[in-house]
Amino acid sequence: MAHSDVAAGTAQLPTSPHSVRQPVRIGLVGVGQQSREHLAPALLGLDTARITAITDPDRHTRNRLADRIGVPARFDSVEAMLAEGVIDGVVAACPPQAHEMIIDACLSAGLPVFIEKPPAVTTDALTQLVKKATDAGIPTAVGMNFRWAAPVMRLAELLANGRYGTASVIEIRHMAGKPRTGLWGLGLWESFLLAQVIHPVDLLLTLAASPVQQVRATSRLATDGGVLTSAHLDFDNGTVGTLLASTQAPRFEHRIEVTTSTGATLRLTGLADLTITGAPGAARDETRRWHPSPMDAGFHRTGFQGELLGFCDAVTTGSGFRPSLADLMPTYHVMDQLATPRRQQ
Ligand SMILES: NC(=O)c1ccc[n+]([C@@H]2O[C@H](COP(=O)([O-])OP(=O)(O)OC[C@H]3O[C@@H](n4cnc5c(N)ncnc54)[C@H](O)[C@@H]3O)[C@@H](O)[C@H]2O)c1
Repeated sequence: MAHSDVAAGTAQLPTSPHSVRQPVRIGLVGVGQQSREHLAPALLGLDTARITAITDPDRHTRNRLADRIGVPARFDSVEAMLAEGVIDGVVAACPPQAHEMIIDACLSAGLPVFIEKPPAVTTDALTQLVKKATDAGIPTAVGMNFRWAAPVMRLAELLANGRYGTASVIEIRHMAGKPRTGLWGLGLWESFLLAQVIHPVDLLLTLAASPVQQVRATSRLATDGGVLTSAHLDFDNGTVGTLLASTQAPRFEHRIEVTTSTGATLRLTGLADLTITGAPGAARDETRRWHPSPMDAGFHRTGFQGELLGFCDAVTTGSGFRPSLADLMPTYHVMDQLATPRRQQ
């Protein structure tokens, strides 16, 4: 049953007050699968952005996308692109070691940068980049698209407006089928954290909206090559978070379940279907449902378009973007506290 207080709020993209201004000239860096399938199409759908340069050391890869979308300025390195002065901001999706180098180069050049997750390999490297960005006063953005997915924004909005009370327990189940081997020259455990676990940890911290007090975790390396971590987080505001993430699922499966102080349960399944049971004033068995609009099937629903629109606004206005590099620090601190996995007997 659709109910007005839940159904009315198809989460809106942040509106741009700058649509009459020139589009932000974007240099797209690293045009592998993520850029080709998500970032480039999302940018092409924005009237506030124009891809004016493409950089990738792989000539075939960069020419393939640049030819397809008609971008004449092509570079084999970020340094070469930055030297040309044809862009206002950088959007990058590369291996994390390259992310560290690209962020550093953009900050040295005074250019805002949007970097896909993970922004860095280690907490130490991220700390240094945060310091450099803060000193330079340059906007930075990390591509944590789950935060910007329309149904997640709706859930966060319902928790923030207090209609259902405050979050007592937040449970996130993030089950993936990969990675089964190390990525980016890293071990399997680091790859699992940086490719998968970073998403639910960041979501848990975002929805709890409070500093973490304590983390207790158990992790396993299964005999079939799968990895699993189960964590319990206590937050300063009294919220309890639980997280289960694994690479042992046949296909991607995601669920967020929030139990609130009024006894309501807000459940988001598959980052798409939001249901609320036990809402104050509702009949005992009544379930309220919220779905993204049928018109909202693409990059807005998955968060890619919203985050890139937000980044373009940050470039135009010099204002902040969430999450910035600094916003990822608590996420990295939690990942550092997830126990090194024990091998399953
Ligand atoms: N937000 C999400 O849900 C999501 C999903 C998939 C991937 N990603 C992230 O996107 C990034 C890229 O993933 P992918 O699947 O496209 O990988 P990919 O291997 O398909 O593409 C990476 C590209 O980066 C290029 N590259 C490497 N070093 C470079 C450098 N120094 N300068 C410029 N280009 C360089 C490579 O040549 C390659 O074309 C990863 O960090 C990954 O974690 C995020």
